[in-house]
Amino acid sequence: MLQSQPRFLTLEGGEGAGKSTVLSALRDALLADGQDVVCTREPGGTPLAERIREVLLGVGDEPMDAHAELLLMFAARAQHVTQVIRPALARGAWVICDRFTDSSYAYQGAARGLDTAFIAALERGAVGIVPGLTLLLDLDVASARARTRGRDLLGESAPDRIESERDAFFEHVRMGFRERATREPERFRVLDASLRAEQVAANAVAALADYRKQWS
Ligand code: TMP
Repeated sequence: MLQSQPRFLTLEGGEGAGKSTVLSALRDALLADGQDVVCTREPGGTPLAERIREVLLGVGDEPMDAHAELLLMFAARAQHVTQVIRPALARGAWVICDRFTDSSYAYQGAARGLDTAFIAALERGAVGIVPGLTLLLDLDVASARARTRGRDLLGESAPDRIESERDAFFEHVRMGFRERATREPERFRVLDASLRAEQVAANAVAALADYRKQWS
């Protein structure tokens, strides 16, 4: 069974789309309104899930099987949901998560070609919750590449195992996200991430305000 959680917000999109800036802006907007907010990320968000993240993103000698990748993503997610997300929601906090199950549909489903029905079974069996609002930061692959390359040149980080994939992979990721947004227009808001970071953040805050009006 899947349960939609109104105070659970997720950010999705490819690398270089500006999720961190948007996450801070959403957190600040909720804090300014006196709300309790928990910010977290996937894969990761608990000590054990962060260890799984290291396994997932580390560049090793042995190629990772696509199902191993999918199952590790869900192992980290199950831990994260139980330890962090559900308890926070239960006490009435907002949870803003940088990536969630939609990333598994886009990366492991659309881009790696794994069976969507299998992913859906894992979602139902091991996760059980769906965000009330998902902001998709949509950016074309060439612009995203230019941004992440700039980051790498600044020495902020070397590309991880998934960032090292080819452009065709990221085209599939982008299409995977957009397809999900089209299928669930109630839950998704698609934001143009090619705009200036401050503008994208302002649009995200406006989308959240609009979403919150549903209950007032
Ligand atoms: P990040 O760099 O945005 O923190 O995300 C880590 C990487 O993990 C990114 O390349 C997307 C990938 N990912 C998946 O492939 N499937 C998933 O379910 C999640 C949550 C992330």
